[in-house]
Amino acid sequence: MVNKGFPKGFLWGGAIACSQADGGYREGGKGISTQDCRFFDPNWDEKTIYERAYFSEMSTAGLKRAIEDEGTLNYPLRRGIDFYHKYPQDIALFKELGLNVFRTSISWSRIFPNGDEQLPNGEGLKYYKDLFGELKENGIKIFATIVHYDIPVNLVLNYGGWKNRKTIDFFLKYVSVLFENFGEIVDYWLPFNEINAARFATWDGVCLIKEEEENAEQALYQCVHHQFIANAKVIELSKKMLKNPMIGGMIARFCSYPATCRPEDFLQSVQDEQYSNYFYLDVMARGEYPKYMDRFFEKLGVEIQFEEGDEALLKNNTVDFVSFSYYSSQVSTSDQSWEKTCGNLVAEANLNPYLKTNKIGWTIDGLGLRSVLNQLEDRYRLPLFVAENGLGTFETLEKELTVHDDYRISYFEEHFKAMKEAIIDGVNLIGYTAWGIIDIVSCGPLTMDKRYGVIYVDYDNRGNGTGNRYKKDSFYWYKNVIETNGEEL
Ligand code: BG6
Repeated sequence: MVNKGFPKGFLWGGAIACSQADGGYREGGKGISTQDCRFFDPNWDEKTIYERAYFSEMSTAGLKRAIEDEGTLNYPLRRGIDFYHKYPQDIALFKELGLNVFRTSISWSRIFPNGDEQLPNGEGLKYYKDLFGELKENGIKIFATIVHYDIPVNLVLNYGGWKNRKTIDFFLKYVSVLFENFGEIVDYWLPFNEINAARFATWDGVCLIKEEEENAEQALYQCVHHQFIANAKVIELSKKMLKNPMIGGMIARFCSYPATCRPEDFLQSVQDEQYSNYFYLDVMARGEYPKYMDRFFEKLGVEIQFEEGDEALLKNNTVDFVSFSYYSSQVSTSDQSWEKTCGNLVAEANLNPYLKTNKIGWTIDGLGLRSVLNQLEDRYRLPLFVAENGLGTFETLEKELTVHDDYRISYFEEHFKAMKEAIIDGVNLIGYTAWGIIDIVSCGPLTMDKRYGVIYVDYDNRGNGTGNRYKKDSFYWYKNVIETNGEEL
């Protein structure tokens, strides 16, 4: 029988990441994380923000400077939106909105400040106990990301971060503490946010100081391999420690159309999909390195070091669900002179002449989401979860203390209709968490003024402002969607 639309119990949610929202830098015994060290100068103009903050690479000197500087002015990710203190009022807003799931990440450096301690930090555990308790009291399910880019910076400085297999052991210890303490309360686990980030944002994805590597590609893919192993070990552990484990794999989904029906462009799109998307999900969901990567690695001079047992571990520990972020689509072409626009998450993207662009310049493509959902259903036959999606743009608070964000409503509408159609196509989509449901510091430009929320937060790029929260027009629109389970779009 054909599906009719969103199934009963569909998860409608919102998502944030601890490093972009929490603040509370060094409070409650928190250690310094890799994301706490990303530098920003509020006097930079837009061009410099784009060049210096977006896709910023790190250096050892930069890290050391950041660690010595105890302030927050030049480190917006240390400030966030003060979710650390304000979460009870934010959760009250989420409840009013009707969210039935909330995705946030756990800060490793709150649980193990340096990553290599013997015992966890009790204050950090208490914070999450309280936060998760508050969510559950408000009837909201928990979707917890275990690492959303940030790891204790000590692991990079003293162990080489993900390059070193020892980091996997530290990670497993951290995860076992999480399972022990929150195994009963968290509903969905995600070991890694966007495990394919290494390629488009190396510091974020694998905390690697690329410029200090002799063979950066080798180091990068070895880090990714260690994350795959870590991911599989989490699944192995979950089978021992959790009653009903739901462990997901996630990528930033770069769906890419061939620019023309020239066979060269089609082949380019097949390869772009393989190298940027499928490789990562194939390892996590099918349990093995796909054959097409051999040629790719050979060309780059990369030889992944497998240890004995790695292959079996990957094969026997595949994910329970597949999730992804989806912001816009891309265009694949072998024509270097193809017109460009700016992308979201990527520095530059080939322009798709059939799509409109938003104020910031990225293209909007709801139908692409329907195609992506169908492709992932076909390939993996696993429950699917849209872990991030939304529209980031500049906006101002009106005199009447709201934002008339009709552009966000139409973005959501287009993407929700696409999800509904995909479900009718037969896709097993179980949930959706809108990215930056409440305005947070953006991860690329490190600014407050690239906003995704249905809730406005009164902070500017310097961290000035009241911090008050205000409901945008999209708040009321999304609330109605949730109330009607997507019937009214
Ligand atoms: C995703 C990340 O890649 O994109 C988020 O998981 C990030 O952390 C989001 O915030 C949007 O990017 P940006 O740069 O607009 O914050």
